Amino acid sequence: MKGIILAGGLGSRLYPLTFATNKHLLPIYDQPMIYYPIATLVNAGIDHIMIVTGGPHAGHFLRVLRNGKHLGIRHLEYAYQENEGGIAEALSLCQEFAGGDDVCVILGDNTTDADIRDDVEGFTDGALLFLASVSDPERFGCPVFDPGDSSRILEIEEKPDNPQSPYAVTGLYIYDNRVFDYISRLAPSDRGELEITDVNNWYIRDDSLRWTVLDGYWSDAGTFESLYRAGRFWAERRAAGVERADTYSATAQSG
Ligand code: G1P
Repeated sequence: MKGIILAGGLGSRLYPLTFATNKHLLPIYDQPMIYYPIATLVNAGIDHIMIVTGGPHAGHFLRVLRNGKHLGIRHLEYAYQENEGGIAEALSLCQEFAGGDDVCVILGDNTTDADIRDDVEGFTDGALLFLASVSDPERFGCPVFDPGDSSRILEIEEKPDNPQSPYAVTGLYIYDNRVFDYISRLAPSDRGELEITDVNNWYIRDDSLRWTVLDGYWSDAGTFESLYRAGRFWAERRAAGVERADTYSATAQSG
């Protein structure tokens, strides 16, 4: 399975912090934000990774990530998204990189301590969504569960006024290779973007979407509040002895 980290956008919700660099290079406590999704993939055994970025500061990634070896990445590629075409458009830029493989996709501002190795290794086909219980689901994609069968998701609503459950669809997804075909058939949403939620709804209609709840902490970090919360969480984890991504991958490489 290949790994894909989507790290484009202007980060306008974090202005003025993102005037001078890309959002995903801002600190979450003692690491650049993007170290966290990298660690999630590398710890799950995924070490062929493509990072999709964009905007005026894309070159900054090379200075921080170089070839990724210090983070446990074996093969690192970059893609550049020209415009604000949405998460699904960013993903479509990875079709050649994916080859015919399945892909584990994570948004560059998502941070979790959950171990997804079993989900990665057990994945066969379709789509797998990771959900998290949050206090503010209206900020996210939200599942609508079947009232007659709560294991079934009927639809994902993007940022609904009245979420049907406390769950958010996190920015962590596993897709089979059909995802690229689905995206090529998508139409832009009202805001002119190709939406990942529309991709997920394709899989629901295909009856091949499964979901699981992330076993651990999860937060995005795209707003001042969530960036602060994520920083506080990881500061506490570090105080409790959890190592930084560049430390434990170095250990894994020498082991
Ligand atoms: C995006 C997705 C949303 C998802 C969220 C997770 O929203 O559109 O469905 O719940 O990421 O972080 P954004 O943060 O880009 O507004």
